[in-house]
Amino acid sequence: MVSESKVERQGVGALDRAALLGVRKHTEFPKAHASDTVIRAEGVTIRYGDFVAVKDVTLDIPDRKVTAIIGPSGCGKSTLLRAINRMNDFIPSMTLSGSLTYRGADIYAPKSDPVDLRRRIGMVFQKPNPFPKTIFKNVAWGAAINGYRGDLHELVERSLRQAALWDEVKDKLHQSAFALSGGQQQRLCIARAIALQPDVLLMDEPCSALDPIATAKIEDLIDELKSQYTVVLVTHNMQQAARVSDLTAFMYMGELIEFDATDTIFTKPNQQRTQDYITGRFG
Ligand SMILES: Nc1ncnc2c1ncn2[C@@H]1O[C@H](COP(=O)(O)OP(=O)(O)O)[C@@H](O)[C@H]1O
Ligand SMILES: [Mg+2]
Repeated sequence: MVSESKVERQGVGALDRAALLGVRKHTEFPKAHASDTVIRAEGVTIRYGDFVAVKDVTLDIPDRKVTAIIGPSGCGKSTLLRAINRMNDFIPSMTLSGSLTYRGADIYAPKSDPVDLRRRIGMVFQKPNPFPKTIFKNVAWGAAINGYRGDLHELVERSLRQAALWDEVKDKLHQSAFALSGGQQQRLCIARAIALQPDVLLMDEPCSALDPIATAKIEDLIDELKSQYTVVLVTHNMQQAARVSDLTAFMYMGELIEFDATDTIFTKPNQQRTQDYITGRFG
């Protein structure tokens, strides 16, 4: 089995190459518009070879809300999240059945363009992964590659402001991103994702490598982001899910056990297994 971080590194590398090689002008995906459901999974099953990692999951992820996915390690959270912007495509043994749509368009249709999809559905990983470039170039890079015609300086400032990082870096935009702290690097990665003007942000345990102060900053930021973006947040930290999300999906052994308003999941869940998990009886 390939470790998760290795998969993620491979995924990013392949994505960078894909973005570098094939920036397409046409698009298969509809423009963002007001609609309650942004991502819809119906009977989604994901396998690695014969192993079923996600089993028959059906859920609707609503617009401009934070949806948390919680559950014990290995229950399929990352697999489900990565299916949404086709990051699992880089794992050769992966197969997906069922229907997964983004604003009504089939994400896995033969004609759908994963590069365009990932521009609309951005991703932030567990470990901050800035490029070995300056702070400015980290944020400007994706937009420049995609032929952004506006003012790059304005875009960089706006993205860094939205990521609550501008004040800390405005005087050192041309220094290496590696000179930043871990928490700052993660906000830089969020700024980089935002600079592509996505519709959805997928975050896979974005605070797990950060200290409590940096974590609090990212949590505040997630709360801000939902006014403009649909956020899907994988976390093994239940307090974090309770603090920042509007809806919570509880997964266990590949299955979606319960999906409801976060308040309901944490105060009066319908399923015994959810109750057992949130009260710390397993996991
Ligand atoms: N690339 C892979 N190849 C084979 N099995 C994998 C791969 N990635 C994850 N798995 C397995 O799929 C299951 C779900 O993994 P994952 O989605 O990473 O869970 P979580 O994010 O909830 O910890 C685990 O049993 C894991 O070992
Ligand atoms: Mg995971």
